[in-house]
Amino acid sequence: MTGRIIVYSRTGTTSRLAEALAARFSVPISRIATARYGSGALGYARAGFDSLRQVKLPVTLSPAVGAADWVLLGGPIWTSYLSTPVRSYLEARTDDIPILGVFTTGGGQGEPDNIEGQIKAIGPNGATPPWLALTREQLDTAEATVMMDAFEAEVRSRIEQAGAAQATRRDA
Ligand SMILES: Cc1cc2nc3c(=O)[nH]c(=O)nc-3n(C[C@H](O)[C@H](O)[C@H](O)COP(=O)(O)O)c2cc1C
Repeated sequence: MTGRIIVYSRTGTTSRLAEALAARFSVPISRIATARYGSGALGYARAGFDSLRQVKLPVTLSPAVGAADWVLLGGPIWTSYLSTPVRSYLEARTDDIPILGVFTTGGGQGEPDNIEGQIKAIGPNGATPPWLALTREQLDTAEATVMMDAFEAEVRSRIEQAGAAQATRRDA
């Protein structure tokens, strides 16, 4: 079972989390990109405006996912939703590689109410994937390590289940 991390990060925070997860699972990273949201004030304003309107936009993924058996998908929280590039990627993707975990970073403001329904809809066969939600401040703390340990264990059990299901299908 080969895996891959897919991440969007406008200002580098979620990218750091993606790198930590890639090291834990020994898998490569593919990055979602768009030129629309630079890291400055204009990028911030556009990000907020687009997220509130839940627009979709063309995004690129580099390198391509290739022959992965499972994926972890991550990005920042924007206006309490999955960020626009992550949503756009989800809506445009043509493969059906199961997303076995979701990770987000946020500034810690407000409850990310809207995101829960979006994450529920992502999982294979209606199973809500494990969700690792860290704030920027938590990222390099012992608390984050504990949360990442729990997330890793849950994802590994989903990977095992997916592997068993795949083997059963092959044998059938
Ligand atoms: C337009 C916009 C809206 C945001 N809305 C939220 C929010 O609703 N809740 C939250 O906790 N953080 C929010 N944030 C903060 C980001 O989620 C946080 O800074 C994140 O770690 C940035 O990740 P990145 O560096 O990978 O882009 C928002 C940031 C932007 C740009």
